[in-house]
Amino acid sequence: MRSAALLVVVLAAVAAAAPFHLTQGTFKLGTSVTNRLLDAQDSHAGRRSLGDVPKQWFTQKLDHFNTFDETTWLQKYYVNQTFWGGPGYPIFFMIGGEGPIDDRYVTAMDYVIYARTYKALMVTLEHRFYGESVPTADYSVANLRFLTSQQALADAANFAANITLQFNAPTSSWVTFGGSYPGCLSAWARLKYPNLFQGSISTSGPVHAELNFVQYLEVVQASLEYFGGTTCSSLITQATNKIQTLLQQPGGLSSVGKLFSVCVPLNSQDDVANFMSTLAGNVMGVVQYNNEGRGGPTITDVCATMLSNSDPLQAYVNLNQLFLASGNVTCLDVAYKPMIQQLQDTAPGADVGGRSWLWQTCQEFGFYQTTDSTFSHVFGNLFPLSFSLQMCNDVFGTNYQQADFQKRLNWTNDYYGSLDFSGSNTFFIHGSIDPWHALGIYQITSPVNSATLITGTAHCANMRMPLPSDPPQLVAARLQTSETIGKFL
Ligand SMILES: *[C@@H]1O[C@H](CO)[C@@H](O)[C@H](O)[C@H]1NC(C)=O
Ligand SMILES: *[C@@H]1O[C@H](CO)[C@@H](O)[C@H](O)[C@H]1NC(C)=O
Ligand SMILES: *[C@@H]1O[C@H](CO)[C@@H](O)[C@H](O)[C@H]1NC(C)=O
Ligand SMILES: *[C@@H]1O[C@H](CO)[C@@H](O)[C@H](O)[C@H]1NC(C)=O
Repeated sequence: MRSAALLVVVLAAVAAAAPFHLTQGTFKLGTSVTNRLLDAQDSHAGRRSLGDVPKQWFTQKLDHFNTFDETTWLQKYYVNQTFWGGPGYPIFFMIGGEGPIDDRYVTAMDYVIYARTYKALMVTLEHRFYGESVPTADYSVANLRFLTSQQALADAANFAANITLQFNAPTSSWVTFGGSYPGCLSAWARLKYPNLFQGSISTSGPVHAELNFVQYLEVVQASLEYFGGTTCSSLITQATNKIQTLLQQPGGLSSVGKLFSVCVPLNSQDDVANFMSTLAGNVMGVVQYNNEGRGGPTITDVCATMLSNSDPLQAYVNLNQLFLASGNVTCLDVAYKPMIQQLQDTAPGADVGGRSWLWQTCQEFGFYQTTDSTFSHVFGNLFPLSFSLQMCNDVFGTNYQQADFQKRLNWTNDYYGSLDFSGSNTFFIHGSIDPWHALGIYQITSPVNSATLITGTAHCANMRMPLPSDPPQLVAARLQTSETIGKFL
């Protein structure tokens, strides 16, 4: 979700000059989780896009909940017919999320393999208000009222009905797919439109909206310990404590800023919060995607760096330098005000989706990864919930209190049922080292759904194309996915 993203950390990424920044890439607003996976997969495989599936445009309704509003706009989609057996054979729908989609959404993900098995048509639809799917002239607060997950699901339903007619396939069964936020959408599409969607594969979806997502950093700590033992997490804790102590001392902001190569000297509490969340973000990104076997930085690499210097603070500085270098930037961009100003730009695509995703977190989901945990303090305590909520208010010009945010999140949880999922034919897939599994369904008590928690894998790992190095439990999850799809059909 920076696709994963949404986090405070994420936000820091938005301000970064470099378009691709490992530090923040994980959570970078507007670069969906799926894109990040595909990018990692491609840099590994040495390519970006197959580029032979044409981009298409669907005339979509602006407001599905107002019959009298006939306003329409153009929504981007792709279709890949290569494996399709024709009318009567299934249609697999990869739902777009909090970033642009491209042709890889119908050519280069794990579901392509299941599509080959079941002779399925593959389709994907870009989420409204992301990428080139621009429903309104600008992304002002007045227009962002049309950016909700409910409208996005109605887009998906309307699109599916049209494709069924276009392909003369009234007897074909639809199965939805998606990872991270679209993992939620995939499950919710089946929940809300069971007549249109026969089954759903829901990967790494945080179906419970949580304002203060303290569990995120708790799972990061557990994942560091899974790969690097308590030594690794304790070295980061020591470094963090040292930083927090230095920040209290006269001239501390300046000396800490210099140590970590900040672009502009730290000079406010907001800068400090953003700085601390960015440092944590370095590690959060690695844990969330843990590119074991795929050439990216891994948790093992992070722990090796922390062990390579006898002074934990210096080791943490070195780790930061590695992230800066991998993002091709020379300084850490953490200034709060310029970041807010960038997010206030209402031009569509101005921040490549950062504003849109921030809006959805402020309005519907929260998911703020804060340092408010009662027992996990590896990353200190300087980016509390109040910092994220202030960001919402600063960017959108509101003055909401915590209870106002909580009320809206409660509505989301009531609307979709949170962890008490009442849909059927849904397979929930999570990875145990992925912090997002804490807000997802990974144990099933109902006979009409299934779930799995893959030991030792990260966010959406199963959505990547298989590799020979995949651990057996991941191979088993892929097999279970294919069998489950077979049962839906
Ligand atoms: C599907 O939608 C397109 C607009 O994008 C429209 O031109 C076409 O007539 C629709 N097809 C059917 C069968 O409804
Ligand atoms: C559809 O996807 C498959 C699997 O990646 C690919 O081999 C094929 O070329 C794609 N079809 C088109 C028209 O690009
Ligand atoms: C960093 O710069 C080098 C050399 O200019 C380039 O080859 C590489 O792709 C860049 N990496 C990123 C992540 O932008
Ligand atoms: C939100 O829901 C929780 C749990 O159901 C409840 O305890 C809390 O009072 C609600 N908060 C608001 C502001 O409605």
